[in-house]
Amino acid sequence: MSESSLQALFAERIGGAQYGKGTAIYKFEKIKRAKRAAIAQFPDRELMDFGIGENDQPAAPIVRQALKREVDDPENRGYADNGIQEYKDAAARYMKREFGVELNPVTQVNHCIGSKPALAILPAVFVNPGEITLMTAPGYPVAGTYTKYLGGDVYNMLLEEKNGFLPDFTALPADVVKRAKLMVLNYPNSPTGAVADEKFFAKAIAFGRANGIVVVNDAAHIQLTYNRRPLSLLSIPGALDACLEIHTMSKGWDMIGWRMGFVAGAELAVRAFADVKDNTDSGQFKAVQKAAAVALDDPAIPQRVRVRYKRRLEKMVEMLRAAGFRASMPGGTYFLMVTAPKGVRGGPSFANAEEASQYLIREHMICTVPYEEGEMLRWSATFPANTEQDEDRIIAETKKRLGAIRFVF
Ligand SMILES: Cc1ncc(COP(=O)(O)O)c(C=O)c1O
Repeated sequence: MSESSLQALFAERIGGAQYGKGTAIYKFEKIKRAKRAAIAQFPDRELMDFGIGENDQPAAPIVRQALKREVDDPENRGYADNGIQEYKDAAARYMKREFGVELNPVTQVNHCIGSKPALAILPAVFVNPGEITLMTAPGYPVAGTYTKYLGGDVYNMLLEEKNGFLPDFTALPADVVKRAKLMVLNYPNSPTGAVADEKFFAKAIAFGRANGIVVVNDAAHIQLTYNRRPLSLLSIPGALDACLEIHTMSKGWDMIGWRMGFVAGAELAVRAFADVKDNTDSGQFKAVQKAAAVALDDPAIPQRVRVRYKRRLEKMVEMLRAAGFRASMPGGTYFLMVTAPKGVRGGPSFANAEEASQYLIREHMICTVPYEEGEMLRWSATFPANTEQDEDRIIAETKKRLGAIRFVF
């Protein structure tokens, strides 16, 4: 088949015959290009990379050892389908230990290959064409993308600083509420760093129950909670028979590439999720599931990850404040969001956060991620550093570079 006939065959949901012809460049591709250009221009200068959104350390030694052991066990060779009981049991123990949530490990937990695929599967479980998924903006877009693939619609609930980056359910139009089936929350919230409290979760549960909407909390960053004890939506009365929560080993256990997590909550919803998942993938390698079970049973692992990123974020707050940014410690996640500068005294002015971010990469080899919502810059604490001395060196060098710029805010 010629390329032009192939071009005519793409589905409308990915652009149809226009697929790949747009000139708009994805935000992260723009950052990559700017990084490449800056490295080419200043080959001897170190890039201070605060733009990376994934853990910089490998999984804990006992988890890696468990995987090495399990890889050799012939029992683990086959399809895992909807998962092994050993991991589900460990997930239920973890939920009880960390959040006081009592789950039936047979019926209320199902593994997933990380939270991203779980979020992609969920709309197929709940959303018919013309129905709505309520998402947050800014937010992690996967459930919204799949909702649209399936002929549903997405309604963005704006997260604003004045509301503590929590959505305001009273602001939702009545016709949207009527068509909504699914609400995807994400607390601790990426990228704002906001953390939900019991009161907000209770409000979300009540809103979902009153309006026939399944509330799902994407808890990807739950172990990276700094300002309080990590809070699970499922620990709030009224959640366990109506809501779902998605957990992942990625962030809190330094296991981002292992692709392992679980969906937990209302029994019937977990069963429906498992049915659709069974038609989507054949489960994670059992050896990975067994190593992940070892990880879940060790409370010291997420504790260490939390201490590492909290320490770095505190140093970053100080570094950014010294350069004039209005920075404060996030409640959770490994991200720090600050308002982008408007320009540099005697230098360029920036029309938006993206221009500020491009300037920082190009002229100072400091990488951040711009967000158009509120014109913010996201600084991640996951910059590569193997020791605390390394960490301090990177912070000190970045502070020096930022200190030489006279920002206008
Ligand atoms: C809010 C949020 N949800 C989900 C994910 C996906 O994580 P994973 O698929 O590794 O579990 C991420 C990763 O960046 C995230 O930030």
